[in-house]
Amino acid sequence: MTVEPTPSVREAHLAELGHETGRPLHVGGLSAEELARRFGTPLYAYDARVLRERFQRVREALGGRVEISYALKANPLVALAELLRREGARAEVASAGEIHAALAAGFEGPEIQFAGPGKSREEIELSVEHGLARLNLESPAEYEVIASVARERGLRQGVAVRVNPERAVAARMHMGGGSQKFGVDVDQVEGLTRRILDEDVVELEGLHVYGGTQCFDAGSWLRNAKALLELAARLEDLHGRPLRELNFGGGFGIGYYEGDPTFDLGAAGEGLRALHEEDARPERAYHVELGRYLVATCGVYLTRVLYTKRSAGRTIAVVDGGMHHHAAAAGLGSIMRRSFPLVACHDVEGSGDPSGVGGPLCTPADEFCGAAALPEPSSGDLLAVLASGAYGLTFSTAQFLSHPTPAEVLVEGDVPLLARERGRPEEPLRLQRWTRGRGRP
Ligand SMILES: Cc1ncc(COP(=O)(O)O)c(C=O)c1O
Repeated sequence: MTVEPTPSVREAHLAELGHETGRPLHVGGLSAEELARRFGTPLYAYDARVLRERFQRVREALGGRVEISYALKANPLVALAELLRREGARAEVASAGEIHAALAAGFEGPEIQFAGPGKSREEIELSVEHGLARLNLESPAEYEVIASVARERGLRQGVAVRVNPERAVAARMHMGGGSQKFGVDVDQVEGLTRRILDEDVVELEGLHVYGGTQCFDAGSWLRNAKALLELAARLEDLHGRPLRELNFGGGFGIGYYEGDPTFDLGAAGEGLRALHEEDARPERAYHVELGRYLVATCGVYLTRVLYTKRSAGRTIAVVDGGMHHHAAAAGLGSIMRRSFPLVACHDVEGSGDPSGVGGPLCTPADEFCGAAALPEPSSGDLLAVLASGAYGLTFSTAQFLSHPTPAEVLVEGDVPLLARERGRPEEPLRLQRWTRGRGRP
C-alpha cells in the first residue's frame, strides 16, 4: 500500500481542471474572468466534466459490487447532487435540509440514507414519510425514537447500526475510535442488534462505519472495512440472521497543502474486491459514501482584489471574499493554518514575494493564507482558490458580518448554469421580527 507524496498539489488540481500553461484560468470552456464578469464575485464555479470524470473514476476503481453514495454535507448544491445522481450515485444526508436537497436533486427516498448523531424526531418522521432506505442509527436512545415513529406510522423503517470502531482510521479528523458521539461502541452493538431483532419494529439491514475525513492511507481505511466485515460475520453467527448491507463510509483524502500525500484509490478498489471475495456473499450489498473526494476538485472560489496596501514589508491584498464563504481555506478545521492552493487567474503560473490575502471580515482569522506567493497583486485582479468544491460555503461562517452569500455556477462545456443566485444584502433580515420601524411585529 503506497502513500505517495504529491509533487505539487497546485499543479495536480490545475491539471484536473484541464489548465494549459500560460493560459488564464478556465472553468470548463469559460475563462474565470468571464464567469466573474457575468455572475459577479465572490463566486463558486464548478466544472461538470471534472465532477463526472471523478465519479466514473471512483466507480471504476471500486468495482460494480459497490454502491456509491454522495455525502451531500460536502456540498449540498442541488445541481451537483443532480449531476451525480444521473451518473449513478445514491445520496447520504445528515439533516432535514439535506433530505430536501436530495429529493430536489431527483433521488427517490429508497436511494437516500441518513447518518448523524443528533437526528431529531421531526427529521426521523420526515425520513419515514419519504421512505428513506436507511437510518444509520448512532445510539440506543436514537433507536427508541425511530422505533416509536415506526410504530406510530405502522411502517417498517430500514436501519443500520453505525459502529464506533475500536481502532481509529488514519484520518486528519477522526469520527470513530475511542469515546465518540458518533456511532455505537463495538461492545454495545451485539446488545443493540439483539434488541432490534427481538422487538421486530424496524428492519435491521446491516452495519455502517465512518472513521473520519481526510484519510490518505488506503490500508488503514481497508482495515476498518475488514473489521466491519468481521463484526458482521460474528453478529450473523450470534443472531442467526443475515445482514444484507455493509456501509464502509467515506473520507478519502484530497491534498490541499504542498507535500500532502495522494489517496491510493486503486489500492482501495483492489482491497475492496479482495474483501468481497473473502466475504463470499454474492447477495450482500456494499456501500461507500463519499463527499470531498467526489466534489472537491471540480470547484474554484473566485474572489476579486478590492485594495492593495503595504504593511510591515508585505503586500496585502484585501479581497471581496473570505472565511464567511470559504472558512476551510482560511484554516477553520485545521490544527495548523496553511495555504489552500491559490492562483491569480490572469497569470496562473506567476509568483512573487509572499503577500497576505485578507477578506472583508473584522477578524484576523479572515485571511486565506499567510504567505501566498502570488504575482504582485493589483486592485481588480481575480484570484482563485482551487479545490474548493467540498466543504466550502456549507462549512462557513456565512452570517458573520451579514454579507450576501456568493452565487454558484455549474459550467457544462462553455454553458454556465446559475445554480444558486447571489444572496441579497437585505437577506439577513429574513425571518427576523422586531417591533419598531418597518419591521414585522
Ligand atoms: C457519516 C459521514 N459520511 C460521509 C461523510 C463524508 O466524508 P468525506 O467528505 O470525507 O468523504 C461524512 C463527513 O463528515 C460523514 O460524517
